[in-house]
Amino acid sequence: MEDCILVTGGAGFIGSNFILDWLQREEASIVNLDKLTYAANPLTVRELEQNERYKLVRADVCDEHAVVDVLTRERPRAVVHFAAETHVDRSLHFPKAFLETNVTGTHTLLLATLRYWQALTQGQRDGFRFVHISTDEVYGSLAMDDLPVRENAPYAPSSPYSATKAAADQLVGSFYRTYSLPVVTVVPSNNFGPRQFPEKLIPLMIRNALRGECLPIYGSGLNVRDWIYVGDQCAAVRVVAARGRAGERYHVGGGNQIANLDLVRELCAVLDELRPTSRPGGYASLIAFVEDRPAHDLRYALDCLKIADELGWRPEHDFRTALRTTVRWYLDREEWLAQVDSETYRNWLATNYPVDRYRLQNG
Ligand code: NAD
Ligand code: DAU
Repeated sequence: MEDCILVTGGAGFIGSNFILDWLQREEASIVNLDKLTYAANPLTVRELEQNERYKLVRADVCDEHAVVDVLTRERPRAVVHFAAETHVDRSLHFPKAFLETNVTGTHTLLLATLRYWQALTQGQRDGFRFVHISTDEVYGSLAMDDLPVRENAPYAPSSPYSATKAAADQLVGSFYRTYSLPVVTVVPSNNFGPRQFPEKLIPLMIRNALRGECLPIYGSGLNVRDWIYVGDQCAAVRVVAARGRAGERYHVGGGNQIANLDLVRELCAVLDELRPTSRPGGYASLIAFVEDRPAHDLRYALDCLKIADELGWRPEHDFRTALRTTVRWYLDREEWLAQVDSETYRNWLATNYPVDRYRLQNG
């Protein structure tokens, strides 16, 4: 076995941050199996390739032959599975891609990993980990006064995205119980930071604000998310890969619950300071309420005591400082945002934000 780990979906947001962080801190090299969908920015792909302990295999996680081949050739000591279709709104329009990658893809990867793992020596098998990245969305919507959920909470996914992630989680759990494959599941809350595709709230708002376009708030804007800086997320995944107990699940939240409207107002204030606008009322004057997302979960909140108690992980980044760092990153790399601005991307915006979605609320 080589001193190498296999990452899937490493050209996306969290995966790329994880790889860059890992290569700075750890000895082992990384092989990244990624299909390079729309979510993989070519500038991120190029940035990763600058490291000689990194290799990209462009392949679909549903492609059994490609997955078996990379495991056999690279002989990793762990698999970290980030690859997924991840945007809730896209899952409302195109659920099939979510079923394929999130469910079939996870199953394909699990089965190939199981065969590979079974052929290792006992010592290698004991040290091996399959780290699966889930999401807090599998638990469904919480009321404002519900307690944060623990790792044994029942599943109640609302969207096709979260339903496919829930299905993937169940498969992962079944491979531990049925075959003793040493899987461990990380359940993150909403991540933010550099290299996030501008379909998700924070980078979309930064992109639109810079272009003087509306900042679309779904429904009332009172929905609450718990935001974690991606650097803290990466540290948690590293800790779980190293010391997480096989068969266990670990919640990883930032402890920063904030309503969408308040978050967007904070973002606008940071932008007003770092890139002042002549617009009366500043960037916040661009805020526009639009028709709500169907099945829009009101709130997510994770109880993260288990990972703190067992593995000593806690988030270290201050939310407001990390938000400024994030805004500055996008301001300093406008070419990264420009790279995304293709016809396909504009078609997506026209699909998800049709003119009548605005008129319904504001007109
Ligand atoms: P992302 O959409 O930014 O990136 C996904 C990556 O997976 C891309 O590089 C893409 O090319 C790749 N990919 C997609 N389909 C593939 C396929 N069939 N085969 C191989 N590669 C494929 O995603 P992200 O936001 O970085 O999320 C990573 C993981 O973390 C996902 O599993 C997601 O469900 C989970 N998660 C994300 C967040 C968040 O806030 N971003 C929070 C909780 C959980
Ligand atoms: O909670 C973890 C999840 O966080 C991950 O599993 C998903 O992969 C990730 O996309 C994210 O899902 P959300 O739906 O919470 O993230 P999003 O950035 O799409 O939206 C955040 C909140 O902002 C949500 O309540 C919807 C709202 N929103 C979003 C967009 C894109 C708006 O009000 N306007 C928008 O234009």
